[in-house]
Amino acid sequence: MKKRKKALITGITGQDGSYLAELLLKKNYIVHGIKRKSSSFNTERVDHLYIDPHYSTNFYLHYGDLTDSNSVFNLISKIKPDEIYNLGAQSHVGVSFENPEYTSEVTGLGTLRVLEAMRFLNLKKCKFYQASTSELFGKTFGRKTFDEKSIFYPQSPYGASKLYAHWITQIYRDSYNMFACNGILFNHESPRRGETFVTKKITRFLTRYILGLENLLYLGNINAKRDWGHAKDYVEMQWRILQQKKPEDYIIATGKAYSVKQFINEACKYLKIKILWTGKGKNEKCYHIANGKKKIFIKVDKKYFRPLDINYLRGNPKRAYKKLKFKPKYNFYKLIKTMIDHDLDEAKKEKILIENQ
Ligand code: NAP
Ligand code: GDD
Repeated sequence: MKKRKKALITGITGQDGSYLAELLLKKNYIVHGIKRKSSSFNTERVDHLYIDPHYSTNFYLHYGDLTDSNSVFNLISKIKPDEIYNLGAQSHVGVSFENPEYTSEVTGLGTLRVLEAMRFLNLKKCKFYQASTSELFGKTFGRKTFDEKSIFYPQSPYGASKLYAHWITQIYRDSYNMFACNGILFNHESPRRGETFVTKKITRFLTRYILGLENLLYLGNINAKRDWGHAKDYVEMQWRILQQKKPEDYIIATGKAYSVKQFINEACKYLKIKILWTGKGKNEKCYHIANGKKKIFIKVDKKYFRPLDINYLRGNPKRAYKKLKFKPKYNFYKLIKTMIDHDLDEAKKEKILIENQ
């Protein structure tokens, strides 16, 4: 009988970690994940996969932290995984300006800690996936799209930390002949996206707004453009990158870019909310028009602007289309519908709870 593969996922409690765990379990892997100790439950995204380990299970959660070499080393040494997916990170670009040192510790050095443990333990057959990012490209210099050969010029402490992680992954691959790969993923969203990322902030607000649970949304740079895909499509590529014959780096993107404002427009259209934009820059406002009246419901607030931001990111996924047979199931419009449908259900449940209090 074929031996079942063991995977270790750092960041299993996050958006991608939860979808990847589902995918690997479907593929008959034994899945181990690292979760951080927190004062309240932080496993909501993977609770549906959890089975009490006193019973038969293929899914195990272990306490650990990417800032703690001992925990990383001990877990890798105990599990001896066939594949490691390093998804754990302080992943919020805005927050990285507020907590740059912590971000570098987790997002940058955390990657080194995993690679060093693999090297020290001589896990020659273990494959390594690094969650690299389009934030590496940063400044556009007039470029229209970014591919595997584009130069990097990050614009945030997060981007700089990920750049270190990206290079150290390549350096370990070349120095020690490790099967270590970077997936350079452009923005990917889903109903499980963290609430402080812009897409989720919008879909959550709009669905709660139409049910009377919220009144006003404050946003930052709504003219920024991103290449938005769905996390479910993207985690499949993370797995495929590790199934290739040679360890290589890949761009995963949709090849299309839309602004935050376009995201709002589409989301409102889907929810049949009639809107009107006025003003420019920090004075831009969005009105909801209903019953012959207009009411401000989205405002720009300088609090949400970053000291540096990337205005435009669009990937060129040609290589992934060809080599990984990447064929995304979600486009921009389907992504928005999926997020809205989910958030509307959540808002309805919340409203019922409030009404029954
Ligand atoms: P996410 O939802 O923010 O998840 C991040 C995960 O990392 C969470 O499980 C978090 O744990 C964990 N984590 C944070 N600090 C940690 C620490 N000190 N030690 C161990 N784990 C820690 O991010 P995501 O959207 O799933 O993204 C997954 C990875 O891909 C990240 O590395 C991100 O930077 C990268 N990436 C994301 C995108 C995107 O658009 N989503 C694009 C390119 C690259 P808690 O749940 O306890 O917070
Ligand atoms: N978060 C947030 N909140 N962003 C806002 C807001 C707001 O209120 N208003 C405007 N934005 C703009 C940001 O300035 C940025 O230009 C864009 O919306 C997207 O912001 P985020 O959703 O926070 O994502 P991100 O692009 O900064 O980073 C995400 O994608 C990267 C890949 O390109 C994260 O998932 C990173 O971890 C990932 O590497």
